[in-house]
Amino acid sequence: MTDAPVNIAVLRAMREQDQRIACLTAYDASFGAVMDAAGVDVVLVGDSLGMVIQGRSTTTAVTVDDIVYHSRCVAPSLSRAFLVADMPFLSFGTRSRALDAAQRLMQEGGAAMVKLEGGREQAKIVEFLAARGVPVCAHLGLQPQLIHKMGRFRVQGREDAAAEAMRRDARILEDAGADMLLLECVPAALGASITKAAGVPVIGIGAGAEVDGQILVLHDILGISAQARSGRPPRFVRNFMQDQPDIASALGAYVAAVRDGSYPASEHCF
Ligand code: KIV
Repeated sequence: MTDAPVNIAVLRAMREQDQRIACLTAYDASFGAVMDAAGVDVVLVGDSLGMVIQGRSTTTAVTVDDIVYHSRCVAPSLSRAFLVADMPFLSFGTRSRALDAAQRLMQEGGAAMVKLEGGREQAKIVEFLAARGVPVCAHLGLQPQLIHKMGRFRVQGREDAAAEAMRRDARILEDAGADMLLLECVPAALGASITKAAGVPVIGIGAGAEVDGQILVLHDILGISAQARSGRPPRFVRNFMQDQPDIASALGAYVAAVRDGSYPASEHCF
């Protein structure tokens, strides 16, 4: 790991050199600073904040203002990590809304990239943003913003046809200009095949070990979101606080485990 600030070129080089990329969500300056010091490469201000910060049961009520506020809290605390901000539900429904949201996340929030959920149906938006200099991460697989359409969260791409459609979506989004892909809750074999075919870094959350990097929600690795939601953590979550004396050590253990490939283990994969 170098101390130089992480940018898209660094992330591409890490992929090419087979160095795993360690990513986490953050929502405030204190955690941002600890993550940066622990060597986290990419920090995401995710719309998961609707659940872990605001206490809601889904992410759909999160607004652009919310993401801008939390990005502004995190951005000054990072001296090395690359900051990505989520485009909330319906904030990219039209080109002009998408451009307004991306402008606010980057100019007011300080993000270096925006992330949006969706497959090929978002290709035109991705192309429009990319052509205007907005780095985009395309989020495929489980899309939590679609919860009210799906009814429940479940692993995506298990059937051959669905897996093939996701492989095609990844290609289409990359061709449209996406600089990074994120795969959520897909079988490990599908994560591996999309990563092999991709030309940009692929980050996984519940997408197996053979992707370029891993991301988890901060509160999940500290073992506190399940308590708050009084539920069981998803299969892909590992509680890194369990064997560590403090939060800085837990975040360091997460980075080390992503880098040496010990996380995710087979019990975290689908
Ligand atoms: O909102 C979020 O935190 C995310 C991650 C779970 C990838 O999208």
